[in-house]
Amino acid sequence: MDEKTPILPPPAVSNCQCRCRSDNKKKRVFKRIALFLIGLLALHAFSHRFQSFRSDWDDGVVSAQCYNGEAPIQWEGKTSYDVDPAKFPNLSVVQNGSVTGGFVKTFTQSDDDLAHINVNIHFSEPYLQDQINIIIDDSENGYNFTVETPKHLRRECINVEITIALPNSAQFNKLAISTINSKIELLDDITTEESISLQTINGSIHAEYVKTNELVVNTVNGGITIEKADAHTVVFHSVNGAIHANVDAEKISAKTINGSIHLDNIGDGTAAAINTETVNGSTHVSAPKNFEGAFSLKTVYGKPNVFSQSKSDKLHIEKARRNAMEGYYGSPVEDSYISSETRMGSITMKFE
Ligand SMILES: *[C@@H]1O[C@H](CO)[C@@H](O)[C@H](O)[C@H]1NC(C)=O
Ligand SMILES: *[C@@H]1O[C@H](CO)[C@@H](O)[C@H](O)[C@H]1NC(C)=O
Ligand SMILES: *[C@@H]1O[C@H](CO)[C@@H](O)[C@H](O)[C@H]1NC(C)=O
Ligand SMILES: *[C@@H]1O[C@H](CO)[C@@H](O)[C@H](O)[C@H]1NC(C)=O
Ligand SMILES: *[C@@H]1O[C@H](CO)[C@@H](O)[C@H](O)[C@H]1NC(C)=O
Ligand SMILES: *[C@@H]1O[C@H](CO)[C@@H](O)[C@H](O)[C@H]1NC(C)=O
Repeated sequence: MDEKTPILPPPAVSNCQCRCRSDNKKKRVFKRIALFLIGLLALHAFSHRFQSFRSDWDDGVVSAQCYNGEAPIQWEGKTSYDVDPAKFPNLSVVQNGSVTGGFVKTFTQSDDDLAHINVNIHFSEPYLQDQINIIIDDSENGYNFTVETPKHLRRECINVEITIALPNSAQFNKLAISTINSKIELLDDITTEESISLQTINGSIHAEYVKTNELVVNTVNGGITIEKADAHTVVFHSVNGAIHANVDAEKISAKTINGSIHLDNIGDGTAAAINTETVNGSTHVSAPKNFEGAFSLKTVYGKPNVFSQSKSDKLHIEKARRNAMEGYYGSPVEDSYISSETRMGSITMKFE
């Protein structure tokens, strides 16, 4: 509004004589026009604000209903599915399309040998009823379960909650969970033979205990917290979010851009290949118990710090600068290393 106020002419200062009357008349007309324009502008601004206030208010009511779990309309499709790991060793659960809330939760609690997938879908507008689909593809690579919602939403809301109850008595070979807009949670002990893959774009990923051969965890906007993972290879990837994990693995890669990294290797191996990278955030890494091999720490605005809790004679620092350090612990072992990089933040590396 301020920028748009017309600039009034400066008050006349001429010591007027003959042209005075007509000047005054012109001034009056000009003043009226200016006032009229200001009035129009004000009216326009007011109605605009009122409209955006109204739609904010409508959106507010709709999304408050959704987030309180009282989104008015329940999806009427089939919501319970059973999967037999003996028949379908690879399970993939996908949420594809836009949602405004929800989660994918996995736990180990099934009393029989089957996995039970349940979905709970609520939304705000009646026409969405037939725009939501569950697609099952059990043709080749195991059992693929997809909840599909419209690609784009405006002011509508859709809340999709997916729970996967895994059996205690049987294991999948592969478990893949992929969502676009919700968080992923793995509770209890989740074990598979070959791999666990967790993927989202807008959402955090949290796991209590996972055991597998290959663990891959990806998000864009959200943190990753893994209370305990037991695997051969582990990959953590975020963009906007911190990574916190306790891991027993030989190969670990943890990368983010905006967020700190806290990685404790709780294994007792000798050789390990550990790589961490962030841009804006500090890093803490601890080596596995019997680690031997090289280390490297690089930062730009921050301090590198390496120490050994009880065996400092094993710590060999070969290069130490204000913002970088290199060396080895125990002895240099081929392909065994811990490497950490950041730009803004300190790095702490801890050995036994
Ligand atoms: C999600 O849906 C789009 C089409 O809307 C499709 O191209 C894409 O492959 C789907 N992704 C998954 C993981 O199913
Ligand atoms: C499960 O996935 C693996 C690796 O992609 C594949 O080799 C195997 O055939 C799949 N199993 C089944 C039963 O589809
Ligand atoms: C099933 O899902 C897996 C993992 O998400 C994928 O690699 C595979 O291509 C999918 N299979 C089919 C038939 O869609
Ligand atoms: C992720 O969230 C941001 C901000 O809320 C939004 O602009 C973006 O469209 C979302 N991305 C996806 C894939 O839904
Ligand atoms: C990092 O986070 C800050 C605020 O916390 C944000 O302004 C910035 O855009 C983020 N950077 C990236 C690459 O997303
Ligand atoms: C770095 O992270 C801090 C704290 O998360 C944030 O406030 C800041 O905006 C970030 N800086 C950049 C350049 O993203």
